[in-house]
Amino acid sequence: MSDKPVARRLRSQDWFDNPDHIDMTALYLERFMNYGITPEELRSGKPIIGIAQSGSDLTPCNRVHVELVKRVRDGIRDAGGIPIEFPTHPMFENCKRPTAALDRNLAYLGLVEILYGYPLDGVVLTTGCDKTTPSAIMAASTVDIPAIVLSGGPMLDGWHEGKLAGSGMAIWQSRRKLAAGEIDEEEFLQTALDSAPSVGHCNTMGTASTMNALAEALGLSLTGCGAIPAAYRERGQMAYRTGKRAVEIVLEDLKPSDILTREAFLNAIRTNSAIGGSTNAQPHLAAMAKHAGVELYPEDWQVHGFDIPLLANVQPAGAYLGERYHRAGGTPAIMWELLENGKLNGDCPTVTGKTMGENLKGREAKDREVIRPFAEPLKERAGFLVLKGNLFDFAIMKMSVVSEDFRARYLQEPGREGVFEGKAVVFDGSEDYHKRINDPSLDIDENTILVIRGAGPIGWPGSAEVVNMQPPDHILKRGIKSLPTIGDGRQSGTSDSPSILNASPESAAGGGLAWIRSGDIVRIDFNLGRCDMLVEDAEIERRKGDGIPAVPPDATPWQRIYRRSVNQLSDGAVLEGAADFRQIARNPPRH
Ligand code: FES
Ligand code: MG
Repeated sequence: MSDKPVARRLRSQDWFDNPDHIDMTALYLERFMNYGITPEELRSGKPIIGIAQSGSDLTPCNRVHVELVKRVRDGIRDAGGIPIEFPTHPMFENCKRPTAALDRNLAYLGLVEILYGYPLDGVVLTTGCDKTTPSAIMAASTVDIPAIVLSGGPMLDGWHEGKLAGSGMAIWQSRRKLAAGEIDEEEFLQTALDSAPSVGHCNTMGTASTMNALAEALGLSLTGCGAIPAAYRERGQMAYRTGKRAVEIVLEDLKPSDILTREAFLNAIRTNSAIGGSTNAQPHLAAMAKHAGVELYPEDWQVHGFDIPLLANVQPAGAYLGERYHRAGGTPAIMWELLENGKLNGDCPTVTGKTMGENLKGREAKDREVIRPFAEPLKERAGFLVLKGNLFDFAIMKMSVVSEDFRARYLQEPGREGVFEGKAVVFDGSEDYHKRINDPSLDIDENTILVIRGAGPIGWPGSAEVVNMQPPDHILKRGIKSLPTIGDGRQSGTSDSPSILNASPESAAGGGLAWIRSGDIVRIDFNLGRCDMLVEDAEIERRKGDGIPAVPPDATPWQRIYRRSVNQLSDGAVLEGAADFRQIARNPPRH
């Protein structure tokens, strides 16, 4: 790129170089001067590239971007652009109460206003922790200015006492050991700390790694961007190249709407199965598709994703962590396998300016222990099973983490393979679960199904990762690690629980889970994709007279606004009406 101004008139020139509004132009320009930008720069007609900074002390998973941004700026400048950095709403998955999921749409709204209302020609979306990726992509879609994703990358691999300790996983596993009396609290804490050895987001294939892999699968980041560990030199180099490319896509006028097609989303669904990706990918992809104006159906997970095998040997579905995954070839190597085996659309345009197929040339895996060949997967049919019945219209189950032990115990009883009946024990929210789970009068055994409600977008509010309920201590002590669970909330992407989750509509919206009672028999038919409480319709009608189980009152103004306008997890838990706003950058804001 040269320093020559662009032939096409850029969006930012409506602010900085508008003869019809010279009075306003003076006002727009002057305050950028006060930290040293010159009027010549802003009036040069060079692309002004926003850097949406998601890292801060409050989002430690993304904090590496505070450093990386220097290389992004270098890249932007070298390509002839002008960088302008600004903060996004912080979202730290593990720390934000009652859940960071409540903030995804808030961060989305905030970023839409910034991208629309300021003189930006393109944007680098810095991503990492779970919701930071979908919120940024949702906003870039709504506004539809050229946008490129820069992932922050996972932490280095964690180790505890000579064994890999993955983020999230280490906590779920040691929580079970603590409950079974195998370790004390001190060791529990130390294992958790050891699982987080450097800057970066979760090093397991949790929601963060998943969503960054899927940003790449959608075609929104440079090839190989998602998996590079945050602390590796390649991460800084990727930041530089991403900055450079951000300027080029403005010159090429390559926008999210050119990239985010239905085929791109189907590629993401397939990739998610092959990486053993998080169940949170379901609402997040649904939300991104809604804002991109793409029709994506809940059934797409079954139709396009279910039969894809698990290829990534990465926790929680496999054995390794982010460093080995990256060295094995990362997401491009997974997608290469899918493409070679006719399971990926290679024609999709991407932010590199090339098609996905072109990007993946020569990207075969380098370590077959970590990334398996398509013909020798870790598991067959590893996608999400989509279920429905009188408890919900839609829920999913992540088959890549369903253990052999669980399959043998629940899914392979001779004569009725794939059918499970159990007695429900119902909890209203996680406080109720924690208070009562070890109560002997609940009479929980291996034929129990644990049910949690009040954990959806409206009920929690925000939808909580609480469906992966741990069995009571006496069950764990007998060596049974998990019971079937059902809920209208979500589960952590790092969990290996066999849960039926994201049930929609949720209990708080009058979904079937509102009417189930402890002691009811639940029948799950995995072959038919059904999940029902075996309760007469008349009895369900009678129970409706009891009303919907209570949920906590609104605690903040945003909670009230959110609850009044959010839809269900099946549809992405997006704000009603927000998806009506499409490609809004076409109409410049008034002066
Ligand atoms: Fe932020 Fe996992 S908690 S990435
Ligand atoms: Mg999470």
